[in-house]
Amino acid sequence: MNVVRNFNELTVGSNVKIFGWIHRMRKYGKMIFVDVRNRSGIVQCVVKGDEIKKLDSVLEESVVEVIGSVVERIKKNPNAKLGDIEIKVDSINVLSKSKPLPLEIKDPEIIKSTKEETRLKWRYLDLRRPEVMQSILFRAKVARAFREFLDAHGFVEVETPYFAKSTPEGSRDFLVPSRIHAGKFYALAQSPQLYKQILMVAGFEKYYQFARCFRDEDPRADRQPEFTQVDIEMSFVTMEDVMSIIEDMVKHVVKSLTGKELGKFPIISYKDSMNMYGTDKPDLRIKEKIETIGNMKYIVSNVDDDGILNDLSKVKDVKFSYKGKGNFDDDLKKIPKSGNLIAYAKFNESNWESACKSLGAVRSIIGKYSNLLKEYRFAWIVDFPLFELNDSGEITPSHHPFTMVKNPKMLDDPLNALSLAYDIVLNGSEIGGGSIRIHDENVQRRIFEILNMNEKDINERYGFLLKAFEYGVPPHGGIAFGLERFVSKLLFKENIREVIAFPKTSDWRDLMSETPSEIPKKYIDETIVPMIKNLKDRHLVK
Ligand code: AMO
Repeated sequence: MNVVRNFNELTVGSNVKIFGWIHRMRKYGKMIFVDVRNRSGIVQCVVKGDEIKKLDSVLEESVVEVIGSVVERIKKNPNAKLGDIEIKVDSINVLSKSKPLPLEIKDPEIIKSTKEETRLKWRYLDLRRPEVMQSILFRAKVARAFREFLDAHGFVEVETPYFAKSTPEGSRDFLVPSRIHAGKFYALAQSPQLYKQILMVAGFEKYYQFARCFRDEDPRADRQPEFTQVDIEMSFVTMEDVMSIIEDMVKHVVKSLTGKELGKFPIISYKDSMNMYGTDKPDLRIKEKIETIGNMKYIVSNVDDDGILNDLSKVKDVKFSYKGKGNFDDDLKKIPKSGNLIAYAKFNESNWESACKSLGAVRSIIGKYSNLLKEYRFAWIVDFPLFELNDSGEITPSHHPFTMVKNPKMLDDPLNALSLAYDIVLNGSEIGGGSIRIHDENVQRRIFEILNMNEKDINERYGFLLKAFEYGVPPHGGIAFGLERFVSKLLFKENIREVIAFPKTSDWRDLMSETPSEIPKKYIDETIVPMIKNLKDRHLVK
């Protein structure tokens, strides 16, 4: 008798032992039909005679061992994957009983109305739902396809520290106080950026890593405080080299998972993307584009759904109209009518970006009401500004200070300088981004000057990287993919939580394990008290 773990390998005529959870149980005269489920699927088992007693007071979701023979079903079920066969049970043993479940995991209608909080609190039960489990299994296959490609192309997997020095990705750090060095902290790595550059100095040439990254950012549907990057770096490459190999890799991943062959990805400049789509991560499935005449940007569409009016009224800084309702002015005679004019915004040099973004929001709303096809539209976005102004009007790097400028002469006019950075976008989401790095000392110094960083700041933050660069640094560049964003977009899921086994809620809690939590007194005495004392001694806290 064979133990069959993959139910798809059950063959008529064989005697088998299987294990799984009771998915459903139905009494039918003197028989009980028990659907047994495991990761591979669901198979019907027919229990008769004395064995039935073993199921007394046993509830669904209990764990069973079934021994029996695989037979063809008399009444086949065309809707079930294994609907042609069933197991005639010789013996069924309950290995572990389940209590009544605290949430529904079978009825799609009830599941739809289950609060996400409940799903996350009982995540191990939620994960039993085939749809949820399939997403996690799909993610594993995506990861495997990445690895296949990278291994076959000479990339080596190297791990870098999670307990790191603050990295330059510009988000808030999660900090870990040091017990041994009171008053000092590790920062959980926001990305392996500096370490991977140092690996290039060391001579690894082609590196990758599935790196967990930690960022204390404000929550959004496509963000988690910890997420996984497929992180890549290469030496002796141009931007075109990186983009070409990475595009091949993405095509390999999509082909392995879906069988689909993708064509060449369009390359769009940041400026064109803002002008035409009102965002630097356009969803190219939406056919409408933003048009421009003189100082007016507008968007025309034949979308037909009254629900749109309410959404349009929430967009700031645009005039909009739908079926005659809205807040249009009269000064629109100039605009050609190739459809219904939905919204427009006037702009000048100072509000160009916000006008683009507002119409980009209108374009997304049109997309929401447009029945977009379930297809993958990738694009590269390039020619980003190297710097931007932050909320306090200070000049800051758009990516990080090691991103190469397109042409060093551009540094004479920093706010108009473009970078050798590239993002990869899929259906409206930035799934990856990277750049060619600076390996020229003079350019690096110039950039620090523009950023108003003094020698002390530079050395404190990046001294170890710059020192490494003094010993022979190859030209290099790379990219990092957000694995959850990529996988969720491939599955057309709205929230990246759907492709994470144990995600955090939108206020960064794990409801299942009740994290964050208070800590034992011993830890407070050993680590926190000395830390506070040290900070007090240094007059950093009162
Ligand atoms: P960047 O900060 O653009 O680049 O991150 C790369 C990709 O990671 C994903 N991502 C996230 N996913 C989920 N939750 C988050 N909070 C989150 N933040 C980012 C995105 C993004 O495109 N070191 C550089 C890469 C490089 O230059 O090689 C970096 O980290 O999909």
